[in-house]
Amino acid sequence: MQQTISFVLDDKIQTLAFNEQLSPTTTVLNYLRNSPVHKGVKEGCAEGDCGACTVAIGELGADGKLHYHAIDSCLVFLPMLNGKQLITVENLMQRGGGEEILHPVQKEMVECNGSQCGYCTPGIVMSIFSLYKTENNPTKEIIEDSLTGNLCRCTGYKPIIEAAAKACVNNGVDFFTKNEKHIIGLLTQIKKDSQSVDIETKKQKYFQPKTKAEALELRDKKPNSILISGATDVALRVTKRHDLLEEIIDLSHIEELKKCTRTDYVIKFGAGMSLEEVKKVSKNELPALNEALTVFGSKQIRTLATFGGNLGSGSPIGDTLPVLMAYNADIKLQSVNEERIVNMNNYVLSYRVTARKPNELITKVIIPKPVAGTIVKFYKVSKRKDLDISTVSAGFSLLIEKNKVSAITLAYGGMAAITKRVAKAEAFLMGNEWTRENVEQAMELIAGDFTPISDARSGAEFRSVAAKNLLLKFWNETHH
Ligand SMILES: Cc1cc2nc3c(=O)[nH]c(=O)nc-3n(C[C@H](O)[C@H](O)[C@H](O)COP(=O)(O)OP(=O)(O)OC[C@H]3O[C@@H](n4cnc5c(N)ncnc54)[C@H](O)[C@@H]3O)c2cc1C
Ligand code: FES
Ligand code: FES
Repeated sequence: MQQTISFVLDDKIQTLAFNEQLSPTTTVLNYLRNSPVHKGVKEGCAEGDCGACTVAIGELGADGKLHYHAIDSCLVFLPMLNGKQLITVENLMQRGGGEEILHPVQKEMVECNGSQCGYCTPGIVMSIFSLYKTENNPTKEIIEDSLTGNLCRCTGYKPIIEAAAKACVNNGVDFFTKNEKHIIGLLTQIKKDSQSVDIETKKQKYFQPKTKAEALELRDKKPNSILISGATDVALRVTKRHDLLEEIIDLSHIEELKKCTRTDYVIKFGAGMSLEEVKKVSKNELPALNEALTVFGSKQIRTLATFGGNLGSGSPIGDTLPVLMAYNADIKLQSVNEERIVNMNNYVLSYRVTARKPNELITKVIIPKPVAGTIVKFYKVSKRKDLDISTVSAGFSLLIEKNKVSAITLAYGGMAAITKRVAKAEAFLMGNEWTRENVEQAMELIAGDFTPISDARSGAEFRSVAAKNLLLKFWNETHH
């Protein structure tokens, strides 16, 4: 066990020990803001909404190469950086021989007039830098997706998108490319020496196991500790509520939980896979899941957030829950002595209470490949398309055989204390023809299954009307 963490910043290995002055729940944003040379990173919201705090992370992949991602540094606890490269806007300019050369992304932001007050600019530059390193000649759609997590209130997005399009044309080649060998050497050195992390200060304990077996042992001994995977939910307890998180088990460094495997019949996603990775994997085979993740948070959020975290919260507005019900997915729960499979329909028991026992971890999400002919769709109603929480969401699946409905799932989020199927409407439609008349009758039965609430997002009446109309939309998109 080691009590310190190490990462690469400014081309050097930084090793941190934690104590009364430096808590393990210090965010990367606060750490950087307190350093003399990395003040380009900004705090706007401290809750993952504005992107002013965006930095890039370089990670050593299984292929031995460096992979770059943009993340919101306000949601990342320092130990989560362990074994990674942290890149801030200060690192982008190339200096040497008395010369300062702007990175192509910075140069195009200047030339396209992509900045006015400049508050959002370091975050925007870092998002485009990650895009630069991963995409060549990206489409407008890809550029916009990479910027959904960055708010700019004065420049307007046209020049920023133009700067991204003009910059990302070099196959990701830049002075970071020349330095990669050196960084890979440093990260390999950290990896070689690294053990599981066990930090203890006077007020907090922070564990970062490296294997699933260690995590299960820890959880067994500490069933009341706080689990984190991506921390996009849990970090807000620190940044917004200023809670002291006394005991944390950080699952973010367990490679076994990040693997995806498949058979002819099922796809098994590790609970620690980032939702951005799940989005990529699901593109061809599970398009409704892919669609749900396309409108999930922002790229920075999806890069951190995991399946395990979305299901772990058990929120009635968690976007993966209705779509996983529509796919009839199973969840694998594991403790030291037992592993069991719980179907999505039996997973959430009441408001944010799930079938998971305190000593269990979610380790896998198992999605059967839909039977040929099955149509699965996801719908999200929110105040804006991107980076917004669902007001109402729906995961629907339908199989029609011999002109009659032979299988149907209608699952809704945001309509009750839990994500829930509409049993009466499903029963009415089963065995009936998929006609508008039948669907309109089923729409009237939906209200019987729900008593939606009014809150800041919408009134109960809007939710009821939206839920009915989503079923009509589904019919509209699926009848022949
Ligand atoms: C700006 C922003 C936008 C967002 N947008 C969306 C959105 O569009 N749709 C949506 O659904 N959510 C959204 N969220 C919420 C959040 O990002 C998701 O719920 C995310 O999936 C949580 O995953 P995580 O890994 O970060 O969870 P964490 O914060 O690490 O954990 C969340 C909960 O799950 C538990 N947990 C984590 N891993 C496991 C495990 N392996 N086993 C058992 N329990 C576990 C934790 O104990 C904790 O209670 C958003 C959040 C932010 C900050
Ligand atoms: S400060 Fe707004 S996303 Fe981090
Ligand atoms: S340049 Fe002012 S907020 Fe973007």
